[in-house]
Amino acid sequence: MLATLKETVSWLRPQIPEETKIGIILGTGLGDLANNITNKKEIPYETIPHFPVSTVEGHSGKLIVGQLGGKPILAMQGRFHFYEGYDMKQVTYPVRVMQFLGFEYLFVSNAAGGMNGSFQVGDIMLIEDHINLFPEHPLRGKNHEALGVRFLDMSRPYDMDLRKLAASIANKNNIKLQAGVYVGTQGPTFETPAEYYYFKIIGGDAVGMSTVPEVIVARHGGLKVLAFSIITDLGVYGKIVEVSHEEVQEAAKIAQPKMAFIMEEVIKQL
Ligand code: HPA
Repeated sequence: MLATLKETVSWLRPQIPEETKIGIILGTGLGDLANNITNKKEIPYETIPHFPVSTVEGHSGKLIVGQLGGKPILAMQGRFHFYEGYDMKQVTYPVRVMQFLGFEYLFVSNAAGGMNGSFQVGDIMLIEDHINLFPEHPLRGKNHEALGVRFLDMSRPYDMDLRKLAASIANKNNIKLQAGVYVGTQGPTFETPAEYYYFKIIGGDAVGMSTVPEVIVARHGGLKVLAFSIITDLGVYGKIVEVSHEEVQEAAKIAQPKMAFIMEEVIKQL
């Protein structure tokens, strides 16, 4: 793992400016944020040594090197989901790469179903905390001290200062920003009504099939995390309707400019 990681990083290093400290994972239907990135250089995943390659529809796989909000950034267009068959080391490999490139921040976006009764489709939720319900843990197995500690504290997974900054930017610009707990599940099925209810009872506000593994590894690697969910459907009793991947992508597209705005402003003010 360490040897392959070093090979990936030394291959990428000359293509990514040393000052780059911000990594962004663009989730389902949120790839449009890539349009705001300037001085772009694209690196397809399949050209990167040891990098997994993404398969699912709507997720094109490439790294985008460039500038956002006046800062150098590296964005992942297309992430690796556990439900696609990748193991957790593959799902989180890009975050390890960011760690070894010396990054300080990870920004993450995803699409999620809302269980909170005050949410509406198209809302953006600032992730305050998460519940990890994936059946495999990204840190399971031998721990390399060079990657992080064996027993990781998770009392503050989502950075408080970044969250405050995001909330104040949303407030000043009249963007409705919800906040809550993200439940991470393996998918690929969406939830049954009973499952949405169960996730609500255990303390969840939104549920999705990503983010939690990447956030755990980012924290293990010492990166500060800011993450958002776009609420693309509702798992709220009485409001549950059929949900398809296409509808999720459509809803995410509509909310995307607001989220892109918040993210870019946060980056400007870092
Ligand atoms: N459940 C799980 N993942 C999702 C959902 C959902 O309702 N919506 C978007 N991603």
